Amino acid sequence: MIPNDKTLFDKVVNLSKRRGFVFQSAEIYGGFRSTYDYGPIGVLLLRNVKDQWWRTMVQLRHDVVGLDASILSPPAVWQASGHLANFSDPMVDCRECGARHRQDKLEDQDTCPSCGRSGTLTDARQFNLMFKTHAGPMVDSAAEVYLRPETAQGMFVNFANVLNTSRKKPPFGIAQIGKSFRNEITPGNFVFRTREFEQMEMEFFVPPDDSDGWYRYWCDARMDWYRDLGMPEDRLRLREHDSEELSHYSTGTADVEFLFPWGWDELEGIANRTDFDLNRHSESSGVKLEYYDPASGERYVPHVIEPAAGATRTAMAFLMAAYDEEEVNDDVRTVLRLDHRLAPYKVAVLPLSKKPEMIDPSNEVLGLLQPHWMCDYDQTQAIGRRYRRQDEIGTPYCVTIDFDTLDDLAVTVRDRDSMAQERVPIDGLVDHLASRLTA
Ligand code: GAP
Repeated sequence: MIPNDKTLFDKVVNLSKRRGFVFQSAEIYGGFRSTYDYGPIGVLLLRNVKDQWWRTMVQLRHDVVGLDASILSPPAVWQASGHLANFSDPMVDCRECGARHRQDKLEDQDTCPSCGRSGTLTDARQFNLMFKTHAGPMVDSAAEVYLRPETAQGMFVNFANVLNTSRKKPPFGIAQIGKSFRNEITPGNFVFRTREFEQMEMEFFVPPDDSDGWYRYWCDARMDWYRDLGMPEDRLRLREHDSEELSHYSTGTADVEFLFPWGWDELEGIANRTDFDLNRHSESSGVKLEYYDPASGERYVPHVIEPAAGATRTAMAFLMAAYDEEEVNDDVRTVLRLDHRLAPYKVAVLPLSKKPEMIDPSNEVLGLLQPHWMCDYDQTQAIGRRYRRQDEIGTPYCVTIDFDTLDDLAVTVRDRDSMAQERVPIDGLVDHLASRLTA
């Protein structure tokens, strides 16, 4: 059992780099601070997190549809949403060492956490977190555009488009997964807070009188999603915002929090955003964003319940929750006990030797499994070390082809968690694994 502190943090960061989950971006140029690249294993984990979210939030529901809106957007969108005026953090500078900090994150308001000196911090000033760039060849104010700091506004500005084309009516939702960008003053804690990250957001449009009930519904549903994917109960909580923490337009917000090595921190926010966003965009664009109910003859602006999660942050939390070490035969085995659905590879095919007579059947077995699952293939090193490599990246099953395979047309299947091994005929292998892998 690893203590949930800096030890765990360092081990997960180290594993991420060593096994190809996450690399520092532009590393060969010295690294680009706070941006990360997802390697061959990490991209699979991240994709599985996003796929599970999409499956739960869109595929298994009749009342949510998808969207993929643009990342670049004109100032009018951010003027209306309030981001141009308000999407800022209070920033202070240290007069001694020049470090910049977010004032609201300082433990001691009078001391610079970088150099430790007291009385050296400037007064706070608001720093807008949006990245600005220019569209087209002219670098002037008329060409200014912004990289979206959240995916949510794409759903609001497309509300009428989706309503008119999808045959949905409130209560219904629009879901989106995509990159967002924030010029964070103090990014950090590995991929927890970065300047470029991925979000999984859904805007659920409801009749105003039903908004409280739907808010509670989504708080429960989102907690269930994390639990179902194996997040331990004692490291997960829902924290309701008190009235001081609430945005001025919100009548209720709760954060899904995970117990990270540095303490409880946010994975997702669930907010009752009322009719704020639709009204703002309606006023600014001049386009009515409302729903006309032909049954009752009523016309209203729906209220919005928004579950907004971070994909990259959530992938990191699942990694931390799954990391385990145990003693096996006087050795320490590192194992990622990831839920099968999140595991980067579901199966690894491992020929016992590199001899040509073993490679052909191994490729045949691999070909049998690949249409069903993401598979790894590894033919070098001692088999024990190859098992350990698969344990470290969370592969639920290893399939070993040995010399007996040539006679009995069977393989050895090894379970990641119990390390138990079973002999399974090749012609029953797909069924054997399908009955064990959580779909
Ligand atoms: N539309 C609402 C919204 O964007 P948010 O709480 O600012 O709400 C939602 O962001 C989620 O996006 C957060 O709970 C977090 O998981 C993720 N997120 C926000 N900023 C992030 C950052 N700088 N790096 C990584 N993830 C971030």
